[in-house]
Amino acid sequence: MAISSDDFKTLLGGWATGVTIVTSRVGEKIHGMTVSAFTEVSLSPPLVLVCADKSSNTHPVIAESGVFAVNILAADQADLSNRFASKKDEDKRFDGLDVETAKTGAPLLPGTVGALDCRVVAAHDAGDHVIYLGEVEEVRVTERVPLLYCRGSYGVMAAKD
Ligand SMILES: Cc1cc2nc3c(=O)[nH]c(=O)nc-3n(C[C@H](O)[C@H](O)[C@H](O)COP(=O)(O)O)c2cc1C
Repeated sequence: MAISSDDFKTLLGGWATGVTIVTSRVGEKIHGMTVSAFTEVSLSPPLVLVCADKSSNTHPVIAESGVFAVNILAADQADLSNRFASKKDEDKRFDGLDVETAKTGAPLLPGTVGALDCRVVAAHDAGDHVIYLGEVEEVRVTERVPLLYCRGSYGVMAAKD
């Protein structure tokens, strides 16, 4: 029996995640989008995966360059998440940001919890998405508090007692 797509979407919307911006570069062209479908996969070798919608403009940039960076957003970066998710002013997403360049050439965003610079080691066709498996070549770490996302809203972790 086919599952109800409404139930599928509603249930997955209740799966709380962090929020990332996945960036990439081909030559001078940099691009990035907001992504919650990010998972750690292996410690040795260090592998992570991201799922990119085939209709996104980020997907062909990663496919061509074979590299991507995962920028993990901090609790005060919901505006940045919305900016990189919106189709409006798509070419202005990086405006005003002090962007650094990672080893692979992928852009790193300021003010994040940290970032993983990755080289694609496999790309799996998965329905309307492509799963990019990346080997991590560089890691940036801070102690910033992460941004969370669930049921269409942003949140932060409850303070520890
Ligand atoms: C919180 C949040 C999480 C998202 N997660 C994903 C994701 O995991 N994969 C994806 O392809 N799109 C995801 N999106 C949607 C893209 O960010 C959005 O479609 C964006 O406009 C794509 O940009 P592009 O076409 O320039 O690549 C997410 C959006 C939001 C707000």
